[in-house]
Amino acid sequence: MKKFFVIGNPIDHSLSPKLQNHWLKENNINATYDKIKLEYPQIKNFIQDIKKQKVAGCNVTVPFKKTVIPFLDKLSLDAEKTQSVNTITINNGVLVGHNTDIAGFNNAIKKLNFNIKGKKVLILGAGGVVPSIIFALKNMHVQEITISNRTREKGENLRVLFNDLKILEWGDLTDFDMVINATSLGLNNEKINLDFSGLGSDKLFYDVIYNPHETHFLKMGKELGYKTENGKTMFVYQALEAFKLWHKIEPEVNSDTFKLLDND
Ligand code: ATR
Repeated sequence: MKKFFVIGNPIDHSLSPKLQNHWLKENNINATYDKIKLEYPQIKNFIQDIKKQKVAGCNVTVPFKKTVIPFLDKLSLDAEKTQSVNTITINNGVLVGHNTDIAGFNNAIKKLNFNIKGKKVLILGAGGVVPSIIFALKNMHVQEITISNRTREKGENLRVLFNDLKILEWGDLTDFDMVINATSLGLNNEKINLDFSGLGSDKLFYDVIYNPHETHFLKMGKELGYKTENGKTMFVYQALEAFKLWHKIEPEVNSDTFKLLDND
């Protein structure tokens, strides 16, 4: 039986097994999908197990999206551009790193009634998923992207990949049409200490976090009368793209798919 995994650290919170196993069952595919917590020194061996076909493929989450790259034979263009891999496949013995977070984010935004073209975007955070979000936003032809991260240097490092990013001091605010919380603040009900009042109309508050389904950040946006969206659609569609890469089948996305992920 084919074995798939999601690797990360921590990994307990991951809902990927729930979703992937649901689709495997629905499509009568004889395979398993589990989560596995790894430490950095274990990554190489794990990827060699894919090469040896002991493992059929995997998803990669924080903090290993960049770590896995030296152990792969090839990267998709999206993975290359973002230096971020969240899905690994093996085709005719060749290990390929893909980035389906980009398509996930792209789909999530497309499904919102919010025209992002020519708009200003403020991203809070500079962690693992941010290069994919920036890349997707650039493909949507946004006007400018500003990064504000607690550790300023990490934000500045993103300029190696995207040289026109603006950097803002953590705690400061700038004019934006869309603000994205890509920090882990909100996973445990933490607040983000920014005052978003008096910003004008027609803003989008987007949170990468989907569990809890409404972070303090999104509540704040909602209370101010703005459109809000959590990261659930992005999560579902990055998983869908990975499923397609492994099984060559497009799984169905419906209200049951989303209910499956309601943990709170
Ligand atoms: P990683 O940084 O390992 O990729 P992540 O979960 O993808 O992990 O990213 C966590 C993000 O949340 C980072 O931008 C982090 O900021 P730092 O780069 O300064 O660590 C941000 N973050 C986490 N806790 C925070 C806090 N208490 N205040 C502000 N930002 C925080």
